Parts: sequence; C-alpha cells; structure tokens
Amino acid sequence: MVKNKLQRFAENKFFNNMFQCTYNDLLTTGFDLKGKWRSEFFNNENPIVLELGCGKGEYTIGLGKKYPYKNFIGLDIKGARMWRGCKTSNEENMTNVAFIRTHIQLIEHFFAANEVDEIWITFPDPQLKKPNKRLTSPRFLALYSKILKPESIIHLKTDSNDLYDYTLNEVLLPQKYNVIFHTNDLYAEKDYLEVKEIQTFYEIMYLATGKPITYIEFKIII
Ligand SMILES: C[S@@+](CC[C@H](N)C(=O)[O-])C[C@H]1O[C@@H](n2cnc3c(N)ncnc32)[C@H](O)[C@@H]1O
Repeated sequence: MVKNKLQRFAENKFFNNMFQCTYNDLLTTGFDLKGKWRSEFFNNENPIVLELGCGKGEYTIGLGKKYPYKNFIGLDIKGARMWRGCKTSNEENMTNVAFIRTHIQLIEHFFAANEVDEIWITFPDPQLKKPNKRLTSPRFLALYSKILKPESIIHLKTDSNDLYDYTLNEVLLPQKYNVIFHTNDLYAEKDYLEVKEIQTFYEIMYLATGKPITYIEFKIII
C-alpha cells in the first residue's frame, strides 16, 4: 500500500496537469497560474469549475467529459487519491482538466478574484468536532467569495445530515446567501438527474449502505 502511494506521488510529479507547491513557494514566489489559468493553461476563455475535496476526482473527470467547453480543476490534499483522476485525464487526453494538491484553506493563492465560475463540494469530511474546518463554514465561504464571480453557484453533496443541517440552517442565512434548491434525500427526488448522474467513490459506498444523500445548491449574494 505504502509502495503504491509512493509510486503515485512520484508519478504525480510528471503529470503536466497536476500542480503542487510548498507553502513557502506560495508565500515567496506565488503560484504562476493564479489569474492566468485561462490564458496560460487551458488556452481558452471557458468557465472554470472547481471540485473541492475531490478525492479521486469523479466530478472533475465526469463533468470534464460531459462539458468539453468548460474547464475543471479538482483540489485535495491527498495526492495518492487525486492520482487516479489525473491518470484518467492523461490516458484520455483531456485538455480541460487539472488537479491541485493543496489545503483548501490556501485556495486564494491559486486563483484570482472572479477567476472561478462554479464550485462543487463533494462529500467533504463533516468535521463534527471542528466547525471551523467544515468546507461550508463561514470561514471557507468567505474564501470562495474572493475567487468566485458574482452569482456563481456552489453545490454541496453530502451523506452527513449534520453537515447538511448546519450548512442550511446555521450558515446560509438569507441576507447573505440564496439557496436555490435543497433536499435531504436526493435520490428520492424525481428531478435533479444531472446531480445524480455522476457518483463519487464515497457516494457509491454510502448508497450501498442505504444512506440518503443530501444536496444543497446555493449562491453567495454578498
Ligand atoms: C470523504 S473524502 C471525499 C472524496 C471525494 N469527493 C468522494 O466523494 O469520493 C473527503 C476528501 O476531502 C479532502 N479534504 C478534506 N478537507 C480538506 C482540506 N481542508 N483541504 C484539502 N482537502 C481536504 C480529503 O483529503 C478527502 O480526500
């Protein structure tokens, strides 16, 4: 297992669409593509969609195939997991997909203001004991608002009722956020086929145990 992990870390260094920087590099030289993803990496003016806590990158890859005229970037701290998505994107010559290995806390080092068009948060750790570490806490939403265009959509898909309730009832206050849709049982809904179409590694495991999947789609107003 460890050998496999080390092998994946080594391979990650050679993928031209996998980015990782030390914290020191971010603070000193900064990240080259910040503000230049479209002009210097994707070579197009298409929208940029992020998948946060992407794991193996099922959304990044799945949406990348479905929407060739959009660009997708998966972020996670676990390089061995992201290797899977990155390897697939290379094997399939996908030019609209990239991955960044980083703590999401550092996201504003990688993107400039208004550079991002949409965010998917797929099955994040619910962080029941550490609310400040939840990827939908006010602290993280404030970071996302620094890089998102106004009126951009954020999607949260989670098996955690606690995270769903917390996000919906404690964070997404109507003065600051517009909740477009929410459900505590996505697969009981007739519509929203697109949200069900791509299933992540964790989602498949939770579905197999009969756990309902919850979903919230919202916008940051201010
Ligand atoms: C439960 S897994 C879900 C992975 C994938 N989205 C899925 O649904 O299969 C949560 C992922 O979020 C990542 N993660 C959690 N907090 C993070 C953070 N602050 N920065 C970067 N990655 C984070 C973890 O490394 C892990 O891969």
